[in-house]
Amino acid sequence: MRNSNSHAVVFALALPAMVAASEPAAPHESLMHASSLHHAYADAFPVGTAVPRDFLTDRAYAPRLDVIRRHFDHVVAENEMKWERLQPEEGVFTFEEADRLVDWAEANGLRVWGHTLLWHNQVPDWVFEGPDGGEAPPALLRERLHTHIETVMGHFRGRVYGWDVLNEVLTSDPADPFRDSRWLRILGEDYMAETIRLARAADPDALLAVNDYGMSNPDKLASALHLLERLGAEEAMPDIFGMQSHMSVYWPPVEMIENSLRALAATGVRVAISEFDMSVYDWTDTADRYREALPEPLALFQADRIARVMQLYRRCAADIERVTHWGPFDDRNWKNNFPVEGRRDHAGLIDRHGRPKPAFLAFQSPGVFLAAFGPVPEWRPEEPETAPEVSVRADRPAYLRLSQLAVPPNTLVDRGRLRVSVELALAGDALEAALDVTDTRWNGRASDETVLRVYLDGKWHAFSADVPEWEASGEGERLRVRLALSPHVIEAGEIAFDLEWRAPAADPRGTYLLRWADTAYGDDAPERAGVLRLD
Ligand code: XIL
Repeated sequence: MRNSNSHAVVFALALPAMVAASEPAAPHESLMHASSLHHAYADAFPVGTAVPRDFLTDRAYAPRLDVIRRHFDHVVAENEMKWERLQPEEGVFTFEEADRLVDWAEANGLRVWGHTLLWHNQVPDWVFEGPDGGEAPPALLRERLHTHIETVMGHFRGRVYGWDVLNEVLTSDPADPFRDSRWLRILGEDYMAETIRLARAADPDALLAVNDYGMSNPDKLASALHLLERLGAEEAMPDIFGMQSHMSVYWPPVEMIENSLRALAATGVRVAISEFDMSVYDWTDTADRYREALPEPLALFQADRIARVMQLYRRCAADIERVTHWGPFDDRNWKNNFPVEGRRDHAGLIDRHGRPKPAFLAFQSPGVFLAAFGPVPEWRPEEPETAPEVSVRADRPAYLRLSQLAVPPNTLVDRGRLRVSVELALAGDALEAALDVTDTRWNGRASDETVLRVYLDGKWHAFSADVPEWEASGEGERLRVRLALSPHVIEAGEIAFDLEWRAPAADPRGTYLLRWADTAYGDDAPERAGVLRLD
């Protein structure tokens, strides 16, 4: 059956008629005939999906609810049970949106998983603020946590069968395994066991989970094992450890996933695959390469990876509590905004025309997919040959757009909270660069580790944040530097050039690396410098 015809039979679905840009594509009718995803795993584990708010409120998305009803047996609110949605102001609980999902799920026979009670994101600032405007004293924060958990779990008792209690509290540094969040800073390390105990008391019948990303990383796994050991000793063992499983077609290898899954299960918890999706981008790739379309060899490669991961899950079914997809519709999957805002990803199972992708078949029937198409060769994007160029003149500054080259997996980018812009100008025989950084991810100033580096004429020039040239400006900081240009550079009229902003390696919230020209993460000469022209 391994020929291109069988491919045609499975995937050649007619292109739908033009869809108005504002209208979401209706799911292709084949999705309503395809056998059900969750039935395929009926003997192994439940299969569910996250649901965004407007699937329930915008009629244009109503057909997608039919797809969800057919293919999934449980749902998770993608955002509506997070703290900022359930208690935006102190004492003001807003359950309407979450209730809408729970009502729909109950009416359609799907179970509901709760996400999430404690997280450092999507939690309002008031939670951590004291009456005097400063930081909330520990007793107050504890009381707020207590109230939130009791009220929320009480509200959904008997209707939400389990909760992500602690979300993303770990680091990938086993020597310092707990995330430096406001929870940790104010309450100290005991907050984790306390929170589990609170949740246990609030709803003794609910399953309780610790949930985190990057769990195939052995260092992150070590942090998790440390936490579980500690929770066990403090009589606060969770029932479940959630491996979020936001993966890419390139990472992690199936063996690493298996290793973590088995190690977690060996502690006595069950494992949930809690937020499954698969980006088509390598983590360090920031290009918007697949805006027009997902190349077919890449669609097949993605499916091959999914098939192998699903086979692993089936082999480990005894340890798996559920598999939850975090966004099966490509056009509504969060990876379209993370880690690169506005970039088009294809991390789901259903394409932008509403058609099932090869990934859909692979998720449903990995053996059938692999027999027909596997092994699919790895697919790598081609790098463009041309280096970027910028021209500077004395009378007109030039602006550089830095792209986010690397965000280590222990950092979550909050949209709109990090802005870096660079202005370049010629001033006599010097180049002036003004770098503006607004980084409201935390309140602190740039640390001494923050570094601007300019690659000019074969050499990096570094300016760390302890130089006096760093000054506060508006919400952020501005660094002005002057670099003398040698006569031969001025005469040549162009030089190899790059600019990098790195912040701040010592900060536990993680490193950012943004660069103008080079697309490789490295410390030495850029693999691909750009060109600076002096006009
Ligand atoms: C994401 C949602 O999918 C987005 O819609 C939202 O803007 C940000 O949060 N880990 C988690 C999830 O635990 O709550 C996140 O969901 C994805 C990463």
